Amino acid sequence: MSAQRARLGVLISGGGSNLQALLDAAGQADFPAEVACVVSNMPTAYGLERARKAGVRAEVVDHKGFASKADFEAALHGVLADAGVQWVCLAGFMRLVSADFLKHFPGRVLNIHPSLLPAFPGLHAQRQALERGVKVAGCTVHFVDAGTDTGPIIAQAAVPVLAQDDEASLSARILAEEHRLYPLAVRLAVTGAVTLDGMRTRVDAIVTGDGAALRSPGAPK
Ligand code: GAR
Repeated sequence: MSAQRARLGVLISGGGSNLQALLDAAGQADFPAEVACVVSNMPTAYGLERARKAGVRAEVVDHKGFASKADFEAALHGVLADAGVQWVCLAGFMRLVSADFLKHFPGRVLNIHPSLLPAFPGLHAQRQALERGVKVAGCTVHFVDAGTDTGPIIAQAAVPVLAQDDEASLSARILAEEHRLYPLAVRLAVTGAVTLDGMRTRVDAIVTGDGAALRSPGAPK
């Protein structure tokens, strides 16, 4: 019999393409986690549809329906607990979670952010990168702490910023990497291959890749 798979709760606010990447990964027999439920704070989020299509429980907990953040998070936790969730993945979830919420899942809340943190935390990370003129951008999966995009980094992927890029084209290039990175980071986290070491993480896994640098702009031919 295969080992018990970790039960993920995925929190979304929108399209849910990262959720889809996790659902697709969970569809593989050797992936060490399953998506136990999806919760959106936005009733119209397309990600809810993705969850239903995958046969996964999908719930709306609309922050607007609660008098306080504490009440909203209590409802959120209620759904996650009811679904037996062990790990929480924020996937385009556009609400900050509080330290009190994190206490329910100590060291077990992950987030994906479309920048090479600690650069460009917060909203519109890709726009911030373009405005600052960086030549390499990317995405980060990190453990969530009570700050905004500040928690210990698990994994990152880099992409070049091209001269002709606008926010849409750069976002699309980063998003494609997000879809590869999030399942990898979840695998590392739930199998215990990544552990916390203060503000850093230690990754105890076979590292692939040849260590080659990404240069942007590339060398002339
Ligand atoms: C992704 O680019 C994700 O990194 C970003 O929102 C998008 C959600 O797309 N998250 C943040 O900016 C959080 N600070 P998706 O709904 O298609 O996964």
